[in-house]
Amino acid sequence: TPSSQDKEIICKARYAPPWVDLSIIGIAGGSGSGKSSIARSIVNQLNLPWVVILSMDSFYKSLDPECSRKAFLNEFDFDAPSALDFDALLKVLEDLKAGQRADIPIYSFAEHRRLSGTTSIYSPHVVILEGILALHDQRILDMLDMKIFCDEDADVCLTRRIIRDVQERGRDVEGIIKQWLAYVKPNFTKYVDPQRKVADIIVPRGVKNKIAISTVVQYIQQILLDKSKKHQATLKRLGRESMNT
Ligand code: ADP
Ligand code: C5P
Ligand code: MG
Repeated sequence: TPSSQDKEIICKARYAPPWVDLSIIGIAGGSGSGKSSIARSIVNQLNLPWVVILSMDSFYKSLDPECSRKAFLNEFDFDAPSALDFDALLKVLEDLKAGQRADIPIYSFAEHRRLSGTTSIYSPHVVILEGILALHDQRILDMLDMKIFCDEDADVCLTRRIIRDVQERGRDVEGIIKQWLAYVKPNFTKYVDPQRKVADIIVPRGVKNKIAISTVVQYIQQILLDKSKKHQATLKRLGRESMNT
């Protein structure tokens, strides 16, 4: 028969802390299609502390001086998978699943580089991962509980991007269009658009699509409810088992 110490170890082994159940929602789509706006809208509607947005912007690789010079001339390709550090992103997701703190880099689009310091994430229950290539890497796809693709016309995306990048990302119109034609548009066809095949939900009309957003919100609420019930049941069971020891 197991000793009381052994019983305690067995109980702990069968106890899954809530963060082990971390759910990850992926949102991919073209630049300007409304991914970041949709992610914010989902979080606002949920209004819960343990749901966080993880933007793939944070995982752009650092550039050497030559690539940085090209970036400022709008001659660097930020739309191919090689521009992003998928290994670092995967490590963050794995750390969060293991209940560990993750330190997220802070990226400056205006400076094409990581800034000093990080933002820390602790034990979230839901992570919303958004980025042009959120549904690209098979290792990350395997970790996702729900896959969303934002569908928007290219001219709408480009006009939104022009306004946003001039206002928020320190760009000029000529440079934005040069980068769009050289890299953003061809890589959309090559890498971004094919992700719709692995999506569970395709969302047209971006943040204006209230039904799509409330469907996702309800799905997340259901996940959290199921998780909470499971956790309560585990605590009850452990309580009963420890009374029997
Ligand atoms: P993404 O993250 O896919 O590039 P964003 O959500 O950042 O897209 O949207 C790009 C820009 O367009 C942002 O400045 C945003 O405020 C604006 N925007 C997004 N959706 C709409 C919309 N439905 N109508 C008007 N502007 C929008
Ligand atoms: O938010 P959005 O999806 O538009 O962000 C991704 C876009 O950011 C990519 O299309 C890429 O061209 C652009 N980008 C950039 N400069 C960087 C990093 C990314 O223009 N330094
Ligand atoms: Mg964005």
